[in-house]
Amino acid sequence: MNLKIKINKWKCSKILLNKQYNFSRLTVTKYLSKALIDDAYNTISKWKGYKKTPLIKLNKLSKELKLNNVFYKDESKRFHLKSFKALGGAFAVEKIAKSKKDIIISSATAGNHGRSVAWGAQRLGLKCKIFISQYVSKNREKDIKNLGADVIRVKGNYENSLKECQKQSKINKWKIVQDVSNKKYKYIPKLTMAGYSLMIKEISNQTNKYITHVFLQAGVGGMAAGAVAGVARYFKRIPKIVVVEPEAAACVLRSIERGKMTKIKINKQSVMGGMSCSEMSLVPWQILKNTANCCVSIKDTNISKTIALLYNKKLSKIKIVGGECSAPGIIGLVSVCNDKTIKNSLKINENSNILLIGCEGDADTLLYDKLLKIGKKKLSS
Ligand SMILES: Cc1ncc(COP(=O)(O)O)c(C=O)c1O
Repeated sequence: MNLKIKINKWKCSKILLNKQYNFSRLTVTKYLSKALIDDAYNTISKWKGYKKTPLIKLNKLSKELKLNNVFYKDESKRFHLKSFKALGGAFAVEKIAKSKKDIIISSATAGNHGRSVAWGAQRLGLKCKIFISQYVSKNREKDIKNLGADVIRVKGNYENSLKECQKQSKINKWKIVQDVSNKKYKYIPKLTMAGYSLMIKEISNQTNKYITHVFLQAGVGGMAAGAVAGVARYFKRIPKIVVVEPEAAACVLRSIERGKMTKIKINKQSVMGGMSCSEMSLVPWQILKNTANCCVSIKDTNISKTIALLYNKKLSKIKIVGGECSAPGIIGLVSVCNDKTIKNSLKINENSNILLIGCEGDADTLLYDKLLKIGKKKLSS
């Protein structure tokens, strides 16, 4: 297959260069402290079964795009949870529990965060209550139950499940572990972000190349901000940061464009389920507003094709299992490279060492299998 034929038409829906860009390590670590970041690494790296996830070279893609290197952090191998989310919720549970055995943990989730919290509770032998909306798949419900949590299904959307979680947790004195921050609730989401920063610590030991650009997928921005905090803490040189979001849920792009946190209306849910968020979390906003060089949004159209490209070894020597939230980083990079003006202004060229985060594997096996099948069909047509 000539890869170029398949990808040289890919385009971003929207591209925004951040006029407020002003990266300061000091500011970043003011919002997410070095102490928390270091605590996350020192704690998680001692967990049973801990292993660095692979940093894979997408050598076929870098050749096609005429870049020096494209590195892909493969989070499908993160413990047995198959997503970077395993680092956040579970770490927060451990810090909140403070070795107590008589507390009950609760959380509301669209999927992966709840799994991480349930696993974190299970690791420590704690009881756990996970609230999900009517839209969360049976498959995801089963996965959470298999980690020993009680699952409570709530009518309505994620917001409804969160309200019910807050109500019942207040009555029963359960400890809520959410990954979304607001003015009154920052510490626990910061713990989850500190957990995510561990990916960057690993990367800093996995290559001696200076990373020039990082593409970061975003929902409420926790993963992206956690990674930026990791960059501020561990990288010697600051790379350019590009945030990638679904066209229908680009709340980071919109907030940066307006210079203030802005809620958007989602008219159609994206297939990038975990990234389909209408509003940023507060701490990620405080971090990303001055550290993202550029925000791009993308359509759902190329997600299944990218999943198949990864699986069929079209981008690298080895087969990669990357889910619907892993593909956007690749699509963002390809689309930016197809736009000469933006590519030049971001100084992406033959010397660039690009970092992509492969956030998840087949965390939802049924959805993954479906998208892979569609993608393979599209590639062969
Ligand atoms: C599986 C998954 N869920 C959720 C997200 C969004 O994370 P956050 O809401 O922290 O931005 C991502 C990546 O951005 C993801 O890969």
